[in-house]
Amino acid sequence: MHIHILSIVPELLDSPLNHSIMKRAKDKGLLTVTVHHLRKWAVNEYGQVDDYQYGGGAGMVMMCEPLEKAINELQQERKFDEIIYLTPDGVTLKQQTANRLSLKENLLLICGHYKGIDERIRQHYVTMEISIGDYVLSGGELAAAVLVDAIGRIIPGVLNDETSALTDSFQDQLLAPPVYTRPADYNGWKIPDILLSGDLKKIEEWRHEQALQRTKERRPDLLDE
Ligand code: 6GU
Repeated sequence: MHIHILSIVPELLDSPLNHSIMKRAKDKGLLTVTVHHLRKWAVNEYGQVDDYQYGGGAGMVMMCEPLEKAINELQQERKFDEIIYLTPDGVTLKQQTANRLSLKENLLLICGHYKGIDERIRQHYVTMEISIGDYVLSGGELAAAVLVDAIGRIIPGVLNDETSALTDSFQDQLLAPPVYTRPADYNGWKIPDILLSGDLKKIEEWRHEQALQRTKERRPDLLDE
């Protein structure tokens, strides 16, 4: 999979995408992430990519021209399966969407800033609009990093233990059960006996029961979906 990102603060994307599982995905050749500085397509020598909004009001709007030029140039080399605009008024990101996107080949992510991008680019180029939750970030970069991580870790072949992505919270609309590691008795805090029983079937049942209980208590909405 190849992910291209358009940003006016590419530095924000340096660190989160170059460690841990994202690094493994890249090292295995399963994922490339290319961050493009939108100023490369600025409308003048001052690097302008935004302008005042029509109708007045505080805050700048990212202009059509740099975005269109960038998209067209990148599209000459590949066909994007989706052009995704990260925006708080997009559709809230869910595991199912990440699952679906992890099977694509070429994605373009657009990070907005200030008041966002000119509506006409959304109408004529953007194919998906994604938000990562009901709060406002200062730009789309951190949201893009979240999206790339959520997608990248489930690209087939990235995780060593193929089952581990399947047992994540949300993969089956359930939160994950509690987990424990050594020692079995830490300062008198003991782990549940069942986990020491060696009865794998019983342990699976216990985990499922715990997951269900946790979901009922914390996220009953997941059980309705
Ligand atoms: Cl995708 N962008 C911004 N700026 N804020 C957000 C967001 C995206 N998702 C939640 N808040």
